[in-house]
Amino acid sequence: KKVVLAYSGGLDTSIILKWLQTEYGCEVVTFTADLGQGEELEPARAKAEMLGVSKVYIEDLREEFVRDFVFPMFRANALYEGLYLLGTSIARPLISKRLVEIAAAEGADAVAHGATGKGNDQVRFELAAYALNPDIKVIAPWRLWDLTSRTKLIDFAEKNQIPIAKDKRGEAPFSVDANLLHTSSEGKVLENPADEAPDYVLQRTVPVEQAPNEPEYIEVGFEKGDAVSIDGEAMSPATILTKLNELGGKHGIGVLDLVENRFVGMKSRGIYETPGGTVLLEAHRGIEQITLDSGAGHLKDSIMPRYAELIYNGFWFSPEREMLQALIDKSQEHVTGTVRLKLYKGSARTVARWSEHSLYSEAHVTFEEDAGAYNQEDAKGFIQLNALRLKLLAARNRRLKG
Ligand code: ARG
Ligand code: SIN
Repeated sequence: KKVVLAYSGGLDTSIILKWLQTEYGCEVVTFTADLGQGEELEPARAKAEMLGVSKVYIEDLREEFVRDFVFPMFRANALYEGLYLLGTSIARPLISKRLVEIAAAEGADAVAHGATGKGNDQVRFELAAYALNPDIKVIAPWRLWDLTSRTKLIDFAEKNQIPIAKDKRGEAPFSVDANLLHTSSEGKVLENPADEAPDYVLQRTVPVEQAPNEPEYIEVGFEKGDAVSIDGEAMSPATILTKLNELGGKHGIGVLDLVENRFVGMKSRGIYETPGGTVLLEAHRGIEQITLDSGAGHLKDSIMPRYAELIYNGFWFSPEREMLQALIDKSQEHVTGTVRLKLYKGSARTVARWSEHSLYSEAHVTFEEDAGAYNQEDAKGFIQLNALRLKLLAARNRRLKG
């Protein structure tokens, strides 16, 4: 039996690695991805080799992550439950895709992950894996083993010569998931939603009180709905998001405290830091304002909550997500141009936008003389016909009231 494990190099996935070898009797191949979590990956290689895995995969997936997952999602302005930019949700399908591909290359019949049985991540990993290979087996040790307390985990690690960092002996103060799009923190000290989260939770964002007192202006260039440049300089997708993270983080932008509904039924409270993504969403809405037709824009907005829910619930690789994506991508054909934003004390605000593809017509909208572009008399019939049913309703109501 051979299994490909999504391996972070941390204590929990190292315990899973050993458990798969000793208790489950599997040969283990590890897969560690750089998704921009900002951690050195080479220590994961050394650790995996020391723990006796048969092969180590370490891959930099940052460009693929932003180009093929984050940017398509941002074309939709996707927000789950009105606020969450889906930073963890959008990374899971890519990890599963590589797990399944590596399993095929290695002749492994199973993949394994370190998500618990209580969360969304298990659902996302597994729905993606099954969508890409209906025969794949998934091993989720958190749902199987009896290592149900920190003490038992540490005992198992000690018994199996798994190195434990000093700060990992006690309970971590909260659980963190990070990638180029966001950092999420959940659990432990954050579990009571009636208590404000302490500032030390923040990992990549300056607390807004400490943000610079001077605003900073930036210009984001778009082509067909995707960001392609900052201040006129063309950059790759991952470079753009990295740069926007620096800018947003410095100005305290994109911190969210949210109680959300997990797919498995319970509510959970998280602190999310999405500095670059928050700037990008504002900029994308800014360029859509002048380049999207109202019918197209309102239609894509109306499907956005459904699209976001599909990503949250783990249905990235599904026909309905792909159908909605086709609609969204079609809407972006003319979403090309430049947005100027002001970053200041936790906010990113569009202050100017321009485009060769603009539908904005000053000739039509001006409060001044419009030289015949628009005939105000046309509005009279437009209003009368739209009012007709409202008048009939009002007349009936008056009649029935007597
Ligand atoms: N609640 C968020 C989500 O469902 C974040 C999950 C964080 N995952 C983690 N393994 N810490 O997308
Ligand atoms: C987990 O339970 O593994 C993390 C939280 C989540 O998946 O929602």
